Amino acid sequence: MTDRYCVFGHPVGHSRSPRIHKAFAEQFGAEIAYEAIEAPLDGFAGAWRDFVNHGGKGGNVTVPFKEDAYRLADVLSPRARRAGAVNTLVLGKQGDTYGDTTDGIGLVRDLQAHAAPLEGARILVLGAGGAVRGVLEPLLAARPAVLMIANRTADKARQLADDFADLGETTGGGFDEIVGTFDLVVNGTSASLGGELPPLPDDLFADAALAYDMMYGAEPTVFLRWAAEHGARTVDGLGMLIEQAAESYFLWRNRRPETGPVRELLRSEI
Ligand code: ATR
Repeated sequence: MTDRYCVFGHPVGHSRSPRIHKAFAEQFGAEIAYEAIEAPLDGFAGAWRDFVNHGGKGGNVTVPFKEDAYRLADVLSPRARRAGAVNTLVLGKQGDTYGDTTDGIGLVRDLQAHAAPLEGARILVLGAGGAVRGVLEPLLAARPAVLMIANRTADKARQLADDFADLGETTGGGFDEIVGTFDLVVNGTSASLGGELPPLPDDLFADAALAYDMMYGAEPTVFLRWAAEHGARTVDGLGMLIEQAAESYFLWRNRRPETGPVRELLRSEI
């Protein structure tokens, strides 16, 4: 029987994951089925069980189910435990469910692909929600000189910085507490969705700085437009999406797809 995989979300119709995973499978000549499933908002666990009962082997999990998936997993990877969220479920041989998160490694791989300053760099992360929590561990593993988290609600940034202080030099605060220039600025707020821009100082970027938005779209986000006007090199989150998918594919099928051709394919289709 064809191995079945899926992405759970709500809404999920816009998801690029089926496209990406089919492209990965083609690289290996593998026959897989990958579908988008809109689980009921209060029925994620039931949707997963139903999927498994019909031959499902693994699932991606997107908004708003990443915490539900975290609670559902029988076994969690250390990085998922730290992130407090799961974006990849794997059905074990004994029928148990393994939960992992590949978002953070997806971000760091994409940053590396764009030669982003990481080791020894001054990194600023905007936002302190679930998306940011999910990427802090691998960002800190890249050994920046300092990682500052700035958020509209300053206390959430301070708390997050405290939670990760054992992994490296972290500070947290409001946008008005941003001091100095940064080599890498990652926008992990959802402000871009509403076309809004966090209030940022004009002299934010160091020489050769990179501005990264975890969101992507046909047009650059407001943050990336602002960053380009202020002298930074800009990259959107499409590559992160593809890299996190590649890591999920590896967890499911123990094969590592090439991401370069899939980047080009997706970019041409946005
Ligand atoms: P996600 O899972 O995408 O991280 P979230 O947990 O709701 O979603 O977090 C959204 C993040 O975007 C938060 O950091 C939020 O700031 P607050 O903690 O102050 O709410 C941030 N955010 C959303 N809209 C914003 C805006 N218009 N300006 C600045 N920050 C915004």
